[in-house]
Amino acid sequence: MKQIKSVLPLLLIIVVLIGALLLVRPGGPLMPNDTPEPDSPSEDTSPGTDPDDEGDEPGDAPDDGDDPAPDAPLDPPGNDDDPPIDTTPGEDYRYSYDVTPYLPAISTSFANKEDILLVNKQYPLGKYYVPSQLVTLHVGDTLYGKSIQLDSTAAAALKAMLLCMRADGITDTFVTSGYRSYSYQEANHNNHIKTEQSGISQDAYAYFGYDYIQMFYIQKGRNKLSYEDARAVALSYSAEPGKSEHQSGLCVDFMTTRMTDLTNDQFEPTAAFHWLQQNACQFGFILRYPKDKTDVTGYAYESWHYRFVGREAAMEITRRGITLEEYLAESSQ
Ligand code: DAL
Ligand code: ZN
Repeated sequence: MKQIKSVLPLLLIIVVLIGALLLVRPGGPLMPNDTPEPDSPSEDTSPGTDPDDEGDEPGDAPDDGDDPAPDAPLDPPGNDDDPPIDTTPGEDYRYSYDVTPYLPAISTSFANKEDILLVNKQYPLGKYYVPSQLVTLHVGDTLYGKSIQLDSTAAAALKAMLLCMRADGITDTFVTSGYRSYSYQEANHNNHIKTEQSGISQDAYAYFGYDYIQMFYIQKGRNKLSYEDARAVALSYSAEPGKSEHQSGLCVDFMTTRMTDLTNDQFEPTAAFHWLQQNACQFGFILRYPKDKTDVTGYAYESWHYRFVGREAAMEITRRGITLEEYLAESSQ
């Protein structure tokens, strides 16, 4: 006990010295409510960027849309050297579902209009063109679960569009066609010619006119088109292989579950068509073959066929009621 008493003053001095050292440390003493500063930025808790993320199905709580703009947590498509992409939604437009993960795809704004791929009768893709970034659409987005591929950026923008369509109550509309290979289109186009040869269709009347059909067919007792005439009719709505925009992987055909054929009579009255008229451009899609533009596009009106061009171009094309051909022709002047 005596020994302990003799070392007590020494212990006291040591305790006082330690206390004094703590008080003069840079930043002062750590108090109970202080939190230490992190060595590195806090972990990113932003949502995932994978457009195929299965967590984005309808039924997930939609965002209330109050957030004006995302905090750009996502990598925009393209090279790291590319200029930053504006992912701010249109000021007066509200997406009915939280499409934040998809905004970089939707907003793909091509630095030059020349980067927008034009595919038509004058600008074919040829036999060997295959898009480099094809992805398979989720079976829940395709008609009866068909296996359909699309360019990855177009697919992400399409996903956002379908999520918003569904959030707005349209649940019967699906993708029935996307990327088509050269050989698929070859078979498809030949089938159309065969079908046209088997009778005289409404499309034949629309293409040749009533008088021509009367004079060269009905009055002669002929009830089937010749191969040449059948081919001409088919060409008015079906691209030859190598010339279809579907080979680019940048366009889709929509169909509802009630439809039996892909016709304007069946698609135009649908809620989906009206919705697309109002909203498709906000997702970067345009109605590619509008009514009364056959002389420019080379094809009859197709209310179901939508082409992805990125929001900037889509907004302008839609606002001005012009075709992709007209829009791109302006750029090269
Ligand atoms: N129906 C469009 C024009 C195509 O065949 O590509
Ligand atoms: Zn189509």
